[in-house]
Amino acid sequence: MALLRTAISILGLDDSESTDDALETIRQKAVRTIAVTPTIVAALERLRRHQAPVAPKNTLGHAANFLYMLHGQAPAAAHAEALDTYFVLLAEHGFNASTFTARTVTGTRSDYYSAITAAIGSLKGPLHGAAGRKAMEMLQDIGTPEQVEPYVQRTLADHKRFMGFGHRVYKGEDPRAKHLKATAKRLADSSQEAQWFAISERLQAAVLKAKGLSINVDFYSASLLHYLEIPTELFTAMFACARMAGWSAHVLEQAADNRLIRPLARYVGPRDLRFIPIDQRQ
Ligand SMILES: CC(C)(COP(=O)(O)OP(=O)(O)OC[C@H]1O[C@@H](n2cnc3c(N)ncnc32)[C@H](O)[C@@H]1OP(=O)(O)O)[C@@H](O)C(=O)NCCC(=O)NCCS
Repeated sequence: MALLRTAISILGLDDSESTDDALETIRQKAVRTIAVTPTIVAALERLRRHQAPVAPKNTLGHAANFLYMLHGQAPAAAHAEALDTYFVLLAEHGFNASTFTARTVTGTRSDYYSAITAAIGSLKGPLHGAAGRKAMEMLQDIGTPEQVEPYVQRTLADHKRFMGFGHRVYKGEDPRAKHLKATAKRLADSSQEAQWFAISERLQAAVLKAKGLSINVDFYSASLLHYLEIPTELFTAMFACARMAGWSAHVLEQAADNRLIRPLARYVGPRDLRFIPIDQRQ
């Protein structure tokens, strides 16, 4: 995510029209950035593995191209379709933290790349986009379906959080989750590693029973991306590839009818304090 954040910022430096805020120019930047983000993510990963980057193929769609550029061979149709489902489901989701960040930056009439760079910084946090990566690490920590219930008890006793569970807005199950679950199940059924789906399903039921918490979008995203052989370290960047469309749409909407976003703060600290000169303070 740090590399992606920097790469998007560099795209802005490279664009001679980066501060042109005409809506049509922002739209062109958005289309280009949505298209190029998976190329950047795949290339950075290949460079990290000391492999040469693979150029995208015009004959492949957005999702299929990412898998092709990452793995160096055209993906199975079912894999491309699974990633496409993931991209569509994660493309846009109202005023979540990263989208609000992009809106706030655009509200100052700063440029498209600054808004997207800031949004990536917001998505990077474990309470937002990095929850999918943490969810996969949790499944790996659990290891086998039989270990689910002891893990739940330990997590509750340690007052820790179950990643991929809970949501600020949804008090029941996140409506995107059932589609991600169905897709992850299809991938699991044709994989040698059925355990990740089995652990997920058992954990979903155990956490609901023990703590009344439902799953969110990140929970089945974890096993879905794992079945596509996408490294866990890339999961948050995959979220960014998807959300680039939503962020861009919000930047355009904000720019089209802009007003500075400036929340008020309510002071709740001590009042009526006396000023003590600095040389008399202890
Ligand atoms: C997303 C999240 C920040 C929203 O939380 P929220 O609605 O603001 O709720 P709070 O953080 O105020 O927590 C309220 C209570 O629920 C508990 N809770 C919420 N999510 C929990 C989780 N994933 N695991 C365990 N407990 C959780 C909190 O511990 C707290 O319990 P307490 O009152 O006994 O202390 C929270 O659910 C979370 O941290 N989830 C895990 C990270 C994640 O999956 N993020 C992706 C979101 S799409």
